[in-house]
Amino acid sequence: MTERTLILVKPDGVKRGLAGEILRRIEAKGYTLVAVHLRTATEDVLARHYAEHVGKPFYEPLVEFMMSGPSLAVIAEGDRVIEGFRALAGPTDPTTAPPGTIRGDLGRQWPTTVLQNLVHGSDSSASAEFEIGVWFPSL
Ligand code: RTP
Ligand code: MG
Repeated sequence: MTERTLILVKPDGVKRGLAGEILRRIEAKGYTLVAVHLRTATEDVLARHYAEHVGKPFYEPLVEFMMSGPSLAVIAEGDRVIEGFRALAGPTDPTTAPPGTIRGDLGRQWPTTVLQNLVHGSDSSASAEFEIGVWFPSL
């Protein structure tokens, strides 16, 4: 079923000049770019985007990291793109993410309290719809 997902190239990915490489992998897999927008997240956007993590020990450092520079917000479309992009990204911890994935090939654990793992991808159709509204309110 054709669906849409919200992908972020997080500030570490943009700073390291990996936005193009990450977009290349999304396109090479066969997904279509619907919208891209480079923006620095506000606290309000992050409180909504990461609502499920509010109150966790890593929440404050996560917000600080996510506000440290621009992220590239992307809407991608394709058959089963939600699970497909999560597979491309690999598991959360970049140190142990398998080679072949974005996090496994390009990321590693930086000496900070929060995992800087290059990308975010929606994990369900409900969260994709919600997150697209958070990052692209005019669409
Ligand atoms: P995402 O939501 O960003 O696509 O990543 P995910 O599903 O793989 O991971 P999730 O559990 O939703 O966590 C969201 C983001 O918070 C940071 N994190 N740091 N213990 C830690 O230091 C820790 N745990 C999570 C990561 O940036 C993670 O992607
Ligand atoms: Mg998540």
